[in-house]
Amino acid sequence: MKHYEALTVKDEPVFTLEKETLSTENLPTGDVTFKVEYSGVNYKDALASIEKGGVIRQYPMVPGIDASGVVLDSQDPDFKMGQEIIVTSYGFGVSHPGGYSQIQKVPAEWVVPLPEGLTLKDAMKFGTAGFTAALAVQGIEEAGAKKDSRILITGASGGVGSIAIAMLKKLGFEHVIAVSRKDSAKNWLTDLGATEIVTPDSLIPEKPKALNKQNFDFVIDTVGGALASTLIPQIQYDGAMALCGNASGIKLDTTVLPFILRGVKLLGIDSVNTPMAKRQQIWQRLATDLNVADVLKVNELAFDELPATFEALLGGTHEGRSVVKIAVD
Ligand SMILES: NC(=O)c1ccc[n+]([C@@H]2O[C@H](COP(=O)([O-])OP(=O)(O)OC[C@H]3O[C@@H](n4cnc5c(N)ncnc54)[C@H](OP(=O)(O)O)[C@@H]3O)[C@@H](O)[C@H]2O)c1
Repeated sequence: MKHYEALTVKDEPVFTLEKETLSTENLPTGDVTFKVEYSGVNYKDALASIEKGGVIRQYPMVPGIDASGVVLDSQDPDFKMGQEIIVTSYGFGVSHPGGYSQIQKVPAEWVVPLPEGLTLKDAMKFGTAGFTAALAVQGIEEAGAKKDSRILITGASGGVGSIAIAMLKKLGFEHVIAVSRKDSAKNWLTDLGATEIVTPDSLIPEKPKALNKQNFDFVIDTVGGALASTLIPQIQYDGAMALCGNASGIKLDTTVLPFILRGVKLLGIDSVNTPMAKRQQIWQRLATDLNVADVLKVNELAFDELPATFEALLGGTHEGRSVVKIAVD
C-alpha cells in the first residue's frame, strides 16, 4: 500500500478539516508502522476538529488520540509484524499524527500490546475514555472506597462517566449516583449500573458553605468548574474526589477546609503521561475485571461520520462512546 487516507486538520490558508490521500513515504518518524483498524471519539478529538480548540500542537495534523490495529513493520524487537496493538496518549493525535488514518507510525514506547481478552474493537470502545475511567476507579479503590460507599459520577452520559458507572457495577459497588443533565440518558444509565440519577442543579446546597452536609463518600468528576467546586464541601470525612475532566470549565473555587478538617483527598487523574508499567496494568484490568465492553452504549461510525460526531460532542448532545471503523474490508 503506497497511499492511505487520513483526516487532516490545517490552519492555513484557512482552517480546514478534510479527508486526504497521503503517501506512505511521508509517514511520521517512529519505529512501529501499523494498519489502523479502529479509533474512537473523545471530547479532545472534537476540540481538535475546530479552530482554536486548543489541543493541536502543530498543523497540519492527523487527529485521533486513540487507535488499535495490526503491526505492518517494526524497527523495535518488542513488536512483530501481525501483532495486535493499542496506541493512545503522549503526543498521538495532537503533536504526532494520530488515529484517523488507515496507516500510522509511532515510537515503540507508545505502543501497548493488545491484552488477551480484548478485541481491537473492544479496545476502542474504551480508548482514552475507558482508560481514564479505569484510572479513576482504581484511584478511589486505593483511597479506600468500599462496596457500600456512596459514589457520585458527574458527566454521566459522557464517555468517561458512563464507562466508570459500568465498571463500578461490575465490581459490585452498591450506591452509584449518576449526575446528568440529560433526561434521555436516564434509562440506559440505569441499565448500565446507576442506582440513582440526579441533575447537576439538584446538587447545589441551599446555603453553599466551605463545609456542607457530607452526602457522598467518593466522587469521580469529569465536569470540573462550578460542579466540582460545589461537590468538594459535600464529601464525607476521609473521602476523595478523582478529578478527571473540565467539560464545564477549568476553575476550581474551593477552600482548604474540606482537606484540613475532613481529610478529603483530591486525586488528579492524567491519562496522557501515565508511565508504561501502570498503563499496561490498567489495560490488563480493562481486559479482565474492568472489562465492560459488552454492556456500554456504543455508536459505531464510518470514517465519514466523524465530523457530525464531533459536533454532537461539542454541542453536548452526544451520549456514550463512539467507535470508528477505519480499515476498509
Ligand atoms: N485527565 C485525563 O487524562 C482525561 C482523559 C480523558 C478525558 N478527559 C476529560 O474528561 C472530560 C470527559 O471526557 P469525555 O471524553 O467523557 O467527554 P464527553 O463524552 O463529552 O462527556 C462529558 C460529559 O460531561 C457533561 N458536560 C458536558 N458539558 C458540560 C457542561 N458545560 N456543564 C456540565 N456538564 C457538562 C455531559 O454529561 P451530561 O450531559 O450527562 O451531564 C457530557 O456527556 C473532558 O473534559 C475530557 O477533556 C480527561
